[in-house]
Amino acid sequence: MKRKPTITKKEFARRREQLMHMIGTSAVAIVPSASLMIRNRDAEFPFRQDSDFLYLTGFNEPDAVAFFIPGREQGEFILFCRERDPAAERWVGRRAGLEGAQKQWGADDAFPIEDIDDILPGLLEERSSVYYNTGQDVEFDQRVMGWVNTVKSKRRSGVHAPQEFISLPLILHDMRLYKSAAELRAMRYAAKTAISAHERAMQACQPGMMEYELEAECLYTFRKAGMEPAYTTIAGGGENACILHYIDNDRVLVDGDLVLIDAGAEYLGYASDITRTFPVNGRFSAPQRALYEIVLDAQKAAIAVAKPGNTWNQPHDVAVRVITEGLVRLGILSGEVDTLIKENAFAPYYMHKTGHWLGLDVHDVGDYKVDDHWRLLEPGMTLTVEPGLYISPTEGVDKKWWNIGIRIEDDVLITRKGNEVLTRALVKEVDDIEALMHASRTAASAATGRKKRQP
Ligand code: GLY
Ligand code: MN
Ligand code: MN
Repeated sequence: MKRKPTITKKEFARRREQLMHMIGTSAVAIVPSASLMIRNRDAEFPFRQDSDFLYLTGFNEPDAVAFFIPGREQGEFILFCRERDPAAERWVGRRAGLEGAQKQWGADDAFPIEDIDDILPGLLEERSSVYYNTGQDVEFDQRVMGWVNTVKSKRRSGVHAPQEFISLPLILHDMRLYKSAAELRAMRYAAKTAISAHERAMQACQPGMMEYELEAECLYTFRKAGMEPAYTTIAGGGENACILHYIDNDRVLVDGDLVLIDAGAEYLGYASDITRTFPVNGRFSAPQRALYEIVLDAQKAAIAVAKPGNTWNQPHDVAVRVITEGLVRLGILSGEVDTLIKENAFAPYYMHKTGHWLGLDVHDVGDYKVDDHWRLLEPGMTLTVEPGLYISPTEGVDKKWWNIGIRIEDDVLITRKGNEVLTRALVKEVDDIEALMHASRTAASAATGRKKRQP
């Protein structure tokens, strides 16, 4: 088997070095891990590491704090984490322990998380700024304040305490916005698995199935590849496709309806995020096709302007124009296109933005505006392009359009020359979707035929 993509220790070290270089030797940075969350009584939700913490450490355990102290001779990266504990590990799984934190995860020093209140204040002495993501976790905010106050209380012995808190996301989230070659390999791998999942769902789809059965096809593909879903899969038939984040997935799929699947796999923490909309019975009706072609044209036009030098918002503006023109052509809107766009006349049918940054978080970090202007797209940024049309029953709109919901979503990397659609291998032309679904149906009925002929 081909080797799976990895993020090397060297890359995590490089990220830490870059961060420490940027904050300088008069500052420190504190990054807490995520915590385990109770699902019900003794059962926990599967653990998902905090993305900032994961980005800087690769360390995938709860109850940890990464502490960065640039220029400290005895070591700049300190990891507070759980100690080894054979009894606890027998019940809930392996731990790296202090030795693992250093040997495996590159910490210069490692201390038990229980000792953090005794050790951390001493490390803050003589540093003027603390880089930290305030406001994310109120309880942790209080602990950070407590550590700083401990240092302040020693002022009379001549100790200098930090004077300012600076937003860590300001620096770290900008770093995360530009993906490295290794990150892109991980994202391509997550995309490839999501593509297989969507193909599998399209091929399995039959009228009378339940929405959750299509979700199951996706989850099977993700887990078979050792991946997690990057977010809860959306599988909505008919009018449910008009509910943007529909995750109930518990209705029957009706002959003649469309079904919308928004499903992505997560690999090494990196998300893919794909939406396809296709006919439950394998054939688009004329109204479905007409609306679908508008969304597809909007998506292609938006992808075409997702390139360096253009702003973040250009793909959205382009998509809105194509969608508005299409709605006028079909008689769903009437009036002059420029005026309709100015008046947001499309909004009842297209109420979300055309995409978001994509990375360790599905809706990834990074500013969309800089100094109040839409940000310029640059090589290494990854985003989704996902226009849609959702026609809920509306007076004055011909009934043939009612309850049709369509979204088409691909993952796009901005390159020097333009872009690379990471999810391009997944069908999205009407004819290609129908051909794929038709082929699987023909194969299925041939198999049934063979079975019937057996004695
Ligand atoms: N799957 C969530 C989104 O498309 O943004
Ligand atoms: Mn998305
Ligand atoms: Mn999505």
